[in-house]
Amino acid sequence: MNSFTKKIKRIDNYILHESGDKNCLRFDVGTSCLGPSKKISKVIKNLSTAGLSEYPDPTYKELKEVIAKKYDINLENITVTAGADEAISLIPRALLEPKSSAVVAVPTFYRIIESNQQFGIKNMLVSIGKNFKIGKNYLDLILHEAKRAKTKMIWICNPNNPTGEIIELDGLEYLLKKAGKIFVTVDEAFCDFADPNTKYSSARLVKKYKNLIVIGSLSKAYGLPGLRVGYIISNKDIIDNIDVIKPVFNVSYLSNRIAIETLNDQDHLLKTYKLISNEREYVIGNIKKMKSLQILGESCVNIFLIRHKTKDLFEELQKKGIVAADFRKSLGLENMGCVRITIKKRKDNNLLVEALRDIDSYNIVR
Ligand SMILES: Cc1ncc(COP(=O)(O)O)c(C=O)c1O
Repeated sequence: MNSFTKKIKRIDNYILHESGDKNCLRFDVGTSCLGPSKKISKVIKNLSTAGLSEYPDPTYKELKEVIAKKYDINLENITVTAGADEAISLIPRALLEPKSSAVVAVPTFYRIIESNQQFGIKNMLVSIGKNFKIGKNYLDLILHEAKRAKTKMIWICNPNNPTGEIIELDGLEYLLKKAGKIFVTVDEAFCDFADPNTKYSSARLVKKYKNLIVIGSLSKAYGLPGLRVGYIISNKDIIDNIDVIKPVFNVSYLSNRIAIETLNDQDHLLKTYKLISNEREYVIGNIKKMKSLQILGESCVNIFLIRHKTKDLFEELQKKGIVAADFRKSLGLENMGCVRITIKKRKDNNLLVEALRDIDSYNIVR
């Protein structure tokens, strides 16, 4: 790095552990164990290379049309991004000033904090507290901090990564009404796992609340993190502001075509939703019988947060060849020894439950 380079720090948050052991079981990934729809390979085979010799449609009209249909909103309320990650980068840059502040409910997805920080925005972290209850008190705490610090934006990850817990629409409406002119950005990257018919999505509320910005992604329940397609939904003025700074051709021809076909086929999403709901109930139902383990928050998606009451669960799982996502140092979770686990298919889930049962049995908490 030469002396002219700006020194930008990364956030010390979720740590990806690369295990050298190919036989280890990965429960850390956060992606869908079903992957994308099988129909995608047919779509890819039918794509013409001619499409690659031209730039994609810069308005991404066809992709916006399928997103608009999904949420029953207008095209002017949508912009498409290279994954939700690009949305998280663009929003503060388009709408906030450096040196201003934003309230972030923690624990949450580290990129939200990192993106604010990279743009010189001060993160005002509001911790959910030890009982992990997202009730009215927590929303009031967020609002109180936002008003006290005169912040311009509140960030909510809904359902939250890492807990998988959701704030239902009445809670979000309460926040949106009370926030007034403060922007409320809701990262819904995991929302399709909670309901495939957008029941929990706040996207439709953009008609009612001018301060609402919603982020969506095809990386999670649609099983396409390699595609890099996400979107932002908000009122026209906010979308126009974001479009001014967004790279014009940010979604490639191939990603655009695959995203359109994916969103037109809801069958796979429904299948994924059913499998994950069933497996989550199975895994969490079993863990709840284990006295030394504590699940934090109530997950409605494919990830959940867990700790051992006396031991380092990350290390205990590692000894058994299981890699969990390491949240032991995450903001808002300091000194709690938390790991995030991703729900998989039954065969793998059985191995996880068996390992946890073993860990539980040699450390009975009375
Ligand atoms: C809550 C949350 N939002 C956004 C993202 C980024 O997703 P994408 O792959 O669409 O960039 C992630 C990825 O892990 C996430 O967990």
